[in-house]
Amino acid sequence: MILQRRNSILRQSHAIRSMVAETVLKPADFLAPLFIDEGENIATEIASMPGYYRRSIDLTVKEVKELWSTGIRSVLLFIKCKDEWKDNTGKEAWNKNGLMQRSIKAIKDAVPEMVVMTDVALDPYSSYGHDGIVKDNEIVNDETVEALVKMSISHATAGADFVAPSDMMDGRIGAIRNGLEENGFTRTGIMSYSAKYASCFYGPFRDALDSAPGFGDKKTYQMDYANRTEAIKETLMDIEEGADIVMIKPAMAYLDIIREIKNIVEVPVSAYQVSGEYAMIKAAAKMGWLNEEKAVLESLTSIKRAGADLIATYFAKDIIRLLE
Ligand code: PBG
Repeated sequence: MILQRRNSILRQSHAIRSMVAETVLKPADFLAPLFIDEGENIATEIASMPGYYRRSIDLTVKEVKELWSTGIRSVLLFIKCKDEWKDNTGKEAWNKNGLMQRSIKAIKDAVPEMVVMTDVALDPYSSYGHDGIVKDNEIVNDETVEALVKMSISHATAGADFVAPSDMMDGRIGAIRNGLEENGFTRTGIMSYSAKYASCFYGPFRDALDSAPGFGDKKTYQMDYANRTEAIKETLMDIEEGADIVMIKPAMAYLDIIREIKNIVEVPVSAYQVSGEYAMIKAAAKMGWLNEEKAVLESLTSIKRAGADLIATYFAKDIIRLLE
């Protein structure tokens, strides 16, 4: 056969493939989520997230130092609130001596340059396990937004570089931005979970923080996974309201949404490879059905190829090792 063009020429060796690779991962692409618990010298493995731990502040700081040394530049903090401090107002969320606030300070003291992002939503603090305040079995939007503003200001006061609202209430980005401005936090960023879908893939995360909803589900505030246009609407509104970075979550089942948003927005786009995505790869690897390292590389490369500038992933540390 005489061919004018043989596409396989560009695939014939590792050297050539690496020359023409369109997507290249680097350490600063990744946000490392961290689960934080009370106590000292505690690291508890999460049953549905093998190899992933909830740590006390001291061990979290140690982990952050290690992450910094590998080239990771940002951590995304989540805390596990004690049951006796949970209620339906979420007030522990803006306790200036709360676990989140102490964690932010400890991390910024130890590794000042690490970009600290904090989860903003009431679920870990809610006696109902919902992201907002509950009245008559409904999540009340406007009162919740007031709580989220207090929570965000409290995180900024403790030293957070970015607040990351993951609650999906209406109008919260604008309200948080105003709250930050009014209190002089003109350098605090907002990474909005703009298109956050009501997803079964959050299951293991709720085990990690003991934050599963006590009644119903989150479909009245998180998005319906049947929808695409709605993700655009949510994201453009968040940008208008002041989001510095937008996020699509989960990642692997939503690559089309990541690409679509990347094509139309002018702010950095992040994606969250969530707990269930981690658990799937871990479980299949444990069974010997998938090669874990290859699955990690392929999944994260595909998320970046889809258009994510930043990727939150529980494989953050593993991927750095694999890239070396
Ligand atoms: C809480 C929150 C959730 C996640 C991040 N922030 C869970 C939820 O919305 O129920 C999920 C992260 C993961 O599954 O890895 N608002």
